[in-house]
Formats: sequence, C-alpha cells, structure tokens
Amino acid sequence: MSKNVAIDGPSGAGKSSIARQAAQAIGFIYVDTGALYRSIAYFVKMSNSDPSDINAIAHLLEKAKIELKFIDGEQRVLLNGDDVSDAIRTPEISMMASRISALPIVREFLFDLQRQIARDNDVIMDGRDIGTVVLPSADVKIFLTASAEIRAKRRHLELTHKGHDVPYQDVLDDIKQRDYDDENREIAPLKRAEDAILVDTTSINFDDSVKLIISTIENNL
Ligand code: DC
Repeated sequence: MSKNVAIDGPSGAGKSSIARQAAQAIGFIYVDTGALYRSIAYFVKMSNSDPSDINAIAHLLEKAKIELKFIDGEQRVLLNGDDVSDAIRTPEISMMASRISALPIVREFLFDLQRQIARDNDVIMDGRDIGTVVLPSADVKIFLTASAEIRAKRRHLELTHKGHDVPYQDVLDDIKQRDYDDENREIAPLKRAEDAILVDTTSINFDDSVKLIISTIENNL
C-alpha cells in the first residue's frame, strides 16, 4: 500500500517549496495539485472561454487532457501534450484558478486523477482539500499556514525574482481575496481537517519549516 501525506493550507504558505524538499528527503513524490487547477485556468484563458458559463467550461473539459510527469522528482504538468508548468505561474492565472476551482465540474474532473496518483505512489500531495476530500484517509495530514502579510511578502519576493514587477500591496490584496474565495466557496472550501496537524510558519524560516515538516511526517507515519 502506498503512503500518503496530505498538506493543505492557504496560498503562499510555502506549501509547494516546503513539501517538495520534504518529499525529496523522505523519498516520496511531491504532487502540487494547484498546478492542475492552474492548467485548467490556463486552458480557459487561452480559449477565451467565460469562466461563469458552465456549459462552456463543461465543453472545454471534454477537450482537456491533463497529465503529470515526474522528471528527476520534479513535477511537470501537461495540457493536451504541452508542458504548461511555467506558463501557469502568473498572477492572472492565479486569479482564474481560484475562480474555476470553485466549480464542481472542475473539481470532479480532477478528483480521480489526484486519487489515482496517490494510489500508485508514495506521495506528499498539497492543495486545499487533500486531507478533507481527496485523501480523507491519508496517513499524515498537515495544515500549513502563515499570516497573510508574511505570505504576501514571500510571494512578492518570488515574483520579483522571476522578473514580474508587481506592487506588494497588489500581492497582499490578491492573497486576501484568494483566501476569502478559497475559504468561502460552497464546494471543498479551504479548511483544516479535524485530524490535521497545524504548522504555522509565520515566524520560522524556510529551512526550519522543512525540518519541522519532515519530523512531523516521520513522527506520524
Ligand atoms: O496552490 P495554488 O496557488 O497553485 O492553487 C491555485 C488555485 O487552485 C487556488 O486558488 C486554489 C485552487 N486549489 C484548489 O481549490 N484545490 C486544490 N487542491 C489546489 C488548489
């Protein structure tokens, strides 16, 4: 039986970078489920579809083939055969991903794919509803969070490094808006599973956060 670790939490909490390193350390595959929602958002955007038109989205999903590939342990996401892993990392796609992730048809579309990956591999899977909906019987569940301000600061730094010139206040506003949307949507809202271990990284640096996550996993597997 494969071993599954679920890490949920709000955007910018450092889930992906922390989970990636932790997965490497314990020899698990790291699965970033946000990338799946982002690739659908990218498809919506590229095809100029209206995210509020359910029929249009349903039609689009019929034409969407999403695959994950792991190259040297690094996840790449393919949309209809094209590697969109880098193109999905823009603030615009972030907003669109937040919107379309509220749609039940989108969540259902991605549900089986996520389950199947977890069934076939030892994974650390991160997202918003992994411990609550996708893998409710995961071996270890972690809810990873940090204050909105520190998350905005970290995300701003990351975007600046990548050459995106976005004001800090915009990043903070985006984060707050996405928190609100993710927590208040009707289907699979972001919330801590009752049996998830809370890890708050507001006042710990990256390396210590990774160590804390690894020890939390090892102590609970
Ligand atoms: O983690 P991220 O920023 O890449 O996620 C992009 C969006 O997808 C985010 O607004 C929430 C949504 N998401 C989700 O609803 N469920 C998941 N399991 C992962 C992401």
